[in-house]
Amino acid sequence: MDLVATVVLAFWAMLPAYVPNNAAVLVGGGPPIDGGRTWKGRRLLGDGKSWRGTIGGTLAGMALAFGLSAIADPMSVAVGVTLPTFPLVVAFTLSFGAMLGDIVASFLKRRTGRERGAAFPGLDQLDFVVASLVLTALAAPAWFGEVFTLPVLAVVLVLTPLLHLGTNGIAYVLHLKEEPW
Ligand code: CTP
Ligand code: MG
Repeated sequence: MDLVATVVLAFWAMLPAYVPNNAAVLVGGGPPIDGGRTWKGRRLLGDGKSWRGTIGGTLAGMALAFGLSAIADPMSVAVGVTLPTFPLVVAFTLSFGAMLGDIVASFLKRRTGRERGAAFPGLDQLDFVVASLVLTALAAPAWFGEVFTLPVLAVVLVLTPLLHLGTNGIAYVLHLKEEPW
């Protein structure tokens, strides 16, 4: 498979993991997951991780996965690359995994003394991909092995930080997000 086809496939397969964080920015707010609890004087997660954002983000990613599954065949023909559909369990693990990775990252940020919104280069850009991929590999190993071959995984690891910085930069410019990361 050539590079363009690999990038197209990587982007398609990761879309249900890319959208939840952006959707959470739009629908987030309300009661925080940690209920305001602290540990050693610092918030467990912080106000930036809300129930509404987490659930809304997960549902948005899953809805997108179902939408993509519905158009996978015609899209495959249109772009000349065989694009996979997303079984229910995969729709969930890709989407919820992204939210979970982001939550774990917030936990680590608070433990290292970073306030809400502080940057943690590297972690910010890759936390959600890693959790998404690990959950999916555990829950649907056969699907994972077919779709995420080594070249696809390599593209995902390079493409994701770039997309993440790009979309967050746009959200920042549009005043949807307080920081550009
Ligand atoms: N958000 C949410 N629930 C989540 C993730 C995000 O409600 N599980 C919303 C919050 O309004 C959050 C915004 O999306 O402020 C941006 O997300 P993010 O950058 O991940 O959070 P931060 O506010 O930067 O907090 P942290 O430092 O903990 O990452
Ligand atoms: Mg942030």
